[in-house]
Amino acid sequence: MDKGTQKERSKLDKKDSSGLEELVASMEETIQKEEREIYTERTLEEAYNPKNVGELKNPDGAARVTGPCGDTLQIHLKVEGDTIVDSTFITDGCGASTACGSVITELAKGKTVEEALTIKDKDVLSILGGLPEDNIHCALLAANTLRAALEDYKSKIDWKRRKEVNESMKLCIPTLGNGGLDDVVSEHFGRAPTFIVVNITNNEVHVVANTGEHFGGVGNTPDLVAAAGAEVMLCSGLGPRAINMFEQLGIEVYVGARGTVQDAIRAFQAGELIEASDANACKEHRH
Ligand code: FES
Repeated sequence: MDKGTQKERSKLDKKDSSGLEELVASMEETIQKEEREIYTERTLEEAYNPKNVGELKNPDGAARVTGPCGDTLQIHLKVEGDTIVDSTFITDGCGASTACGSVITELAKGKTVEEALTIKDKDVLSILGGLPEDNIHCALLAANTLRAALEDYKSKIDWKRRKEVNESMKLCIPTLGNGGLDDVVSEHFGRAPTFIVVNITNNEVHVVANTGEHFGGVGNTPDLVAAAGAEVMLCSGLGPRAINMFEQLGIEVYVGARGTVQDAIRAFQAGELIEASDANACKEHRH
């Protein structure tokens, strides 16, 4: 290519790139104009510059909830005494859910757990100056997630207290064999060959064979677990139907257990497992 042609090409390239920049700038302006027509100034400020984004190491309370639109919000809490000293959130949802997460975590900080339990979606909406009809549920998702994180904190505190006063506490873990505390956690609750029931107050271990219908036997597996006296179930994941059955039997379920039975118990005691809810149920495991 000769020098003259090169010069012409570079002029054209510059023209092209400045045209592209103009196009991008005008598109951005149009989007911002549309957003200003739909959302309040406060909502846009919170969505573009959210506070408290992220996760806390070893949170005292944690919850992840999925809204009706499929978007998820997670809240972590750090509690000292009875006061929430830190609160963070992450979301894979819309800008409005980011704004709601930012506002609700700010509202929770500095409040006692009981005070924070009174925070409602209408409080978030009132701070944001309202949301369009399609985004009202984003505020409800934030309020529901905060409530679930607070409930998670309260249930952990209750377990700690029971441990301190040496109250009997029986945990159940679906396992692959008869190895007791060294056995491996089964990924499929219904199809686990055995269940280990551990009284963590005195380390008494009891192995229950799975005679439920999912393992070729009869009856519901949650009933077996209840009959063994378990109060808490630790598993890797569970379907919504089983979560519901355990709820009706008064057994709390925590998900995220992996490794050996001892690993699962350690993770539960360290507050690393998440209390099961319909929102974090394995949708592919309808058992
Ligand atoms: Fe569903 Fe915002 S959380 S659209």
